[in-house]
Amino acid sequence: MVVVCPDCKKEHHIDEKMIPPNVKVARCRSCGARFSLSPAGQMPEKGVAEDASKEMRPRTIAVALSKGGVGKTTTSVNLAAGLAHAGFNVLLVDTDTQGQDAYMLGAKPNAGLTELVTGELGLDETVVKVRDRLWLLAGGKSLAGVKRFISRKDFGGEMTLSESLLPVEKQYDYVIVDTSPGWDPLTVNVLFYVTEIMTPVSLEVMTLHGLLEFLKSVASIQKYHKELSLKYIVPTFLDLRIKQSGNIMEKLEKLYSNLLCKPIRYNVRLSEAPAFGKTIYEFAPGSHGAGDYRELVKKVAGNDNLFENQ
Ligand SMILES: Nc1ncnc2c1ncn2[C@@H]1O[C@H](COP(=O)(O)OP(=O)(O)O)[C@@H](O)[C@H]1O
Ligand SMILES: [Mg+2]
Repeated sequence: MVVVCPDCKKEHHIDEKMIPPNVKVARCRSCGARFSLSPAGQMPEKGVAEDASKEMRPRTIAVALSKGGVGKTTTSVNLAAGLAHAGFNVLLVDTDTQGQDAYMLGAKPNAGLTELVTGELGLDETVVKVRDRLWLLAGGKSLAGVKRFISRKDFGGEMTLSESLLPVEKQYDYVIVDTSPGWDPLTVNVLFYVTEIMTPVSLEVMTLHGLLEFLKSVASIQKYHKELSLKYIVPTFLDLRIKQSGNIMEKLEKLYSNLLCKPIRYNVRLSEAPAFGKTIYEFAPGSHGAGDYRELVKKVAGNDNLFENQ
């Protein structure tokens, strides 16, 4: 039968027999929208039964913007850790040659994404558990080799990352991908892999320019990867003592009100936590930084009641 997602209108062809009787939640494989199902065992009226399909995918979110220093890595790590705190199984993938995600989590993996993509090592040796329900595929300098590996392919280079990650992802609820600044073969690969983009925008004029340029590049990928959408714009480094911060916030509200998340305020605790290898929830759980990232986690998970008993 054909089920149409009420959010993105994508049609899914599914086999009713594949839906187990205990499935209560449906999720669209394209846009990630979730729906509660009618009484257990019945067909969902909308969406695709969550456990029904072999093709079921986790939600895949790239934290991306071509500009550096806007809070991509801070957001990737604290979003991933926050989702894990909330009870989801999360894989964090670092696609930056700086390899900061491992550092921020106090991990020193011997191998990571490079070895997985080039086929040198298998999953057991490359995906490391860094916290309860949180796993990491580390980035680092060796990713330069992956970029060459991708560029050397005659065709299909843009699918290299997807080919490596698709077999890995099944056991997770979320795959969060941190990206490098700039625009290179690996960024293109990330955007062919994920279906959702989260863009942190530091509240400076230059970042707003960067956002517009970035969105043009994203549109060029969307021509070939129709399921890709910009889902969240996250204002970062909000400091209302600085007039510019408020002005840019207003502009973002006008331009992207439907995508705009609550801002992450400037918080010195966020910049101190990495040196201790701790997430913001571990380092300063009562800080503004921890509070703001908890709000972001709730928004992404679509559940305001997360963390209530913690
Ligand atoms: N909201 C914030 N308040 C204060 N410092 C922050 C905040 N977000 C990030 N930082 C710090 O700013 C720097 C750049 O952030 P980072 O996440 O590495 O950006 P990107 O990955 O986009 O280059 C880091 O030193 C980080 O600790
Ligand atoms: Mg970074």
